[in-house]
Amino acid sequence: MGERPDLRVQLAPRHGRGLILSNPIMIASGIAGYGIEYGEVADIQSLGAVVCKGTTLMPREGNPQPRLLETASGLLNSIGLENIGVEALVRDKAPTWATWRVPVIVNVAGETVEGYVAVASKLEGVPGISGIELNISCPNVSAGGIEFCMRPELAARVTAAVRSATTLPLIVKLSPNAPDIKEVALAVEAAGADALTLINTLKGMAIDIDEKCPSLANAVGGLSGPAIKPLALYTVFETAKVTRIPLIGCGGIACGRDALEFIVAGATAVQVGTAGLTSPGVCITLLEEMERYMRDNGVDSITDLIGTARRES
Ligand SMILES: Cc1cc2nc3c(=O)[nH]c(=O)nc-3n(C[C@H](O)[C@H](O)[C@H](O)COP(=O)(O)O)c2cc1C
Repeated sequence: MGERPDLRVQLAPRHGRGLILSNPIMIASGIAGYGIEYGEVADIQSLGAVVCKGTTLMPREGNPQPRLLETASGLLNSIGLENIGVEALVRDKAPTWATWRVPVIVNVAGETVEGYVAVASKLEGVPGISGIELNISCPNVSAGGIEFCMRPELAARVTAAVRSATTLPLIVKLSPNAPDIKEVALAVEAAGADALTLINTLKGMAIDIDEKCPSLANAVGGLSGPAIKPLALYTVFETAKVTRIPLIGCGGIACGRDALEFIVAGATAVQVGTAGLTSPGVCITLLEEMERYMRDNGVDSITDLIGTARRES
């Protein structure tokens, strides 16, 4: 058997300290909670990184039930950023993360620019936190979230404000609902983001025809899963043409080939969301499949595959 292929990727080349992952597979925000219980059923220490649940300044209960619904090839969720709040995260979760091999990235959410900055400031210098993923793309909260992602200037303003408040690597997660996601990506890159996550869920809904009302209590939810993979892939492919910072592909990834498609389209790393809800071990299977593909095709380093899709299309 030959040498193991090199799966390491650099997620924050513009950042002084950088953010090197041992492999490009990350668990997406909202899937593994804070990773602690999830870690009991899946070998998360072998992953490239874990992104924790969206975290706000104050604890949030989230939206009323029902807030999860299966659709054809997908899932609608309207969790509404239920979380324990940043102070409990720093006090109760970060000390465990500090003992882990896998880096943890905190997904930060807010309703105002000041709210985002306040959360980021509280994460500064906390052992166990390797980076911030700014969630300006949550589709199912009444204030903030996705609004920041709809206009390039607003997205840039929140990114720049958080950039000045943190020395951590800063990833910004964008929404496919933005009128022109490439414009938002360029604005956020110029405002100091180290990397971009593409994409969050798409706004969607379902109707109960017997009750004649929306099926989700919040009416609107975010669509995820295999149904959104082609759109996520297209977004990565198109955005990679105009940006220079690393892209993290996310949307419907469920096997090694899916992950490789994103990397060939231009992503440096990928996040697994919905697939990790139904089978917690999927990320490890995916990693093994990726490694096998590299061996079978004589690829020594995963970085040799990034963005190799033909550009003339
Ligand atoms: C139940 C659930 C909760 C989620 N919570 C968050 C969250 O707190 N913050 C965030 O940025 N994205 C959140 N997401 C979006 C995922 O991180 C991911 O971007 C999206 O689901 C698309 O990937 P997938 O098709 O692999 O699920 C959530 C998704 C689901 C299904």
